[in-house]
Amino acid sequence: MGLTIAQKIIREHLVSGEMTVGSDIGLKIDQTLTQDATGTMAYLEFEAMGVDRVKTEKSVAYIDHNTLQTGFENADDHRFIQSVAKKHGIWFSRPGNGICHQVHLERFGIPGKTLIGSDSHTPTGGGIGMLAIGAGGLDVAVAMGGGAYHINMPKMLRVNLTGRLPAWVSAKDVILKVLQVLTVKGGVGKIVEYAGEGVASLTVPERATITNMGAELGATTSIFPSDTVTRQFLAAQGREADWKPLSSDADAVYDEEITIDLSALEPMAACPHSPDNVKTVRELTGMKIDQVCIGSCTNSSYLDMMRVASILKGKTAADTVSLAIAPGSKQVYNMLAKNGALGDIIGAGARVLECACGPCIGMGQSPNSAGISLRTFNRNFEGRSGTADGQIFLVSPETAAASALTGVLTDPRTLGDEAAIPMPNAFLINDNMVIAPATPEDAKNVKILRGPNIKPFPTTTPLADSISAKALLKVGDNITTDHIMPAGAKILPYRSNIPYLSNFCFTVCDKEFPARAKEYGKGIIVGGQNYGQGSSREHAALVPLYLGIQAVLVKSFARIHCANLANAGILPLVFEAESDYDRIDEMDDLSLPQVRTELENAQPITVKNETKGFTFRAKAQLTNRQREMVLAGGLLNYTKQQNG
Ligand code: F3S
Repeated sequence: MGLTIAQKIIREHLVSGEMTVGSDIGLKIDQTLTQDATGTMAYLEFEAMGVDRVKTEKSVAYIDHNTLQTGFENADDHRFIQSVAKKHGIWFSRPGNGICHQVHLERFGIPGKTLIGSDSHTPTGGGIGMLAIGAGGLDVAVAMGGGAYHINMPKMLRVNLTGRLPAWVSAKDVILKVLQVLTVKGGVGKIVEYAGEGVASLTVPERATITNMGAELGATTSIFPSDTVTRQFLAAQGREADWKPLSSDADAVYDEEITIDLSALEPMAACPHSPDNVKTVRELTGMKIDQVCIGSCTNSSYLDMMRVASILKGKTAADTVSLAIAPGSKQVYNMLAKNGALGDIIGAGARVLECACGPCIGMGQSPNSAGISLRTFNRNFEGRSGTADGQIFLVSPETAAASALTGVLTDPRTLGDEAAIPMPNAFLINDNMVIAPATPEDAKNVKILRGPNIKPFPTTTPLADSISAKALLKVGDNITTDHIMPAGAKILPYRSNIPYLSNFCFTVCDKEFPARAKEYGKGIIVGGQNYGQGSSREHAALVPLYLGIQAVLVKSFARIHCANLANAGILPLVFEAESDYDRIDEMDDLSLPQVRTELENAQPITVKNETKGFTFRAKAQLTNRQREMVLAGGLLNYTKQQNG
């Protein structure tokens, strides 16, 4: 039987397990990346493992999230990461060099390699034919130490692309269409593979826009073949030697298949507050807008920016619209500066932001109250923009730029002929903002710089024989990691300070939760479907751990968050009968009288609702290895145990 692209890469990197759907597999990891918001914690964890030097082929630490530096905290974190990187063999991408996924695609991504990153949009690397997966910081720390990365063998979903994109319709519209068809749960437990004649018409950055938002499908990752288009991109980056061809076998078997006819697509928009709440721009045309933000790891490539510049050239943003643009990398920014396109952007009245995540992570540019903001980003969860009642619509750069000029949502197809913007034969290459690690010899003298904002991560203890605690919080479906641990300019600087962060845990849903958790010292969270969707942020597990949360009992989990809970030593449980969810009220007393024995024996977990006097069963959503991990009190304890 033939293999899919992903199956080929998995087979080459398999260190444990069988490639049958659902079984635990361990993968050798070639490359890792971190960003600063999750990286500080990942490097504290790496240090705790006591490994001198990373064992991966390439590990890169990016600074792109917390770049505002309104106090000493961010600067201290950056210095800490820079010194850790230097000492332990990690490349360091300085603030200003760009967004991790954009820079990684340009300078480090290699077809056929495995990459895990402590950021949920790591699948951007699938655009260049990598098996690129978002993971928790602890997973990344273990991979840097030479350990395998474990997932359940995913199903394979083929997206067959036919036809060719019409003028003014772009890669963003493709992935919004896929989201409309598959929804935010449609990719869970699957790798999405793009195939078909339409693939060849998409450039690598366009493919990367599509794989980037595979994260919103809940997919393990998404991947494109590595073909002549990939080769040309790598050659233009001066890295042709990194290219190798990669395609699925003609007789590869997929578990599911859908077809998207590129020729039939039109500009799309994801409406508040979910990336799968997709309508055509045509349906929304004329809606008054207050703000336009262009950038993020989804849409900040050279091609995206050039298309925006060509729309804005010689025009002015509507006087009711705040237009902010952040190029994705120093390479992109510099090329725009040299070829004059930056002048067109500035001339139109755009507020040019630094090459960083910026408004995407709530670092500035929050819209006005109830403001309507068009963004080329990947997420439009409630409150993520920093304005609680902000209305965020996700659109393509073309739609965003056209609308910025008119002040209302505008279909870019009304602009007339689209200017052809070719991929450059050679990108502007200057890696002077990437600092190489010290040699092993020099590394001995590198001192780790630790500011007062760097606090140790919470300690964990092995799972107790029984758990007895209140249902401290009951939440509904689609709780995101932004609900659990909000982002934003006020909180992000404290990503290395769990005690401080704990004051904000779940405050989007329930302002009293942190105080209540501290009062009781222990608890269980009860939730609905798709709990923990969104980012890879392990703080959404570490902060509840700090607050004494012992188990999370839900209808279903998002993959990365479930793994992060297990890594933290919190027991992730799924109702056997979903109707039991309705029989639990917040503050009910729950007990799990034989939890340790049941988990050791891989049995269903008995849960008693002591308040209402009934018993039901839940399933621990864990692989065998994760079970050992939770019994040991989390991945760090487990890894130490394994290393003797
Ligand atoms: Fe940054 Fe937003 Fe991407 S926070 S990594 S630009 S999803």
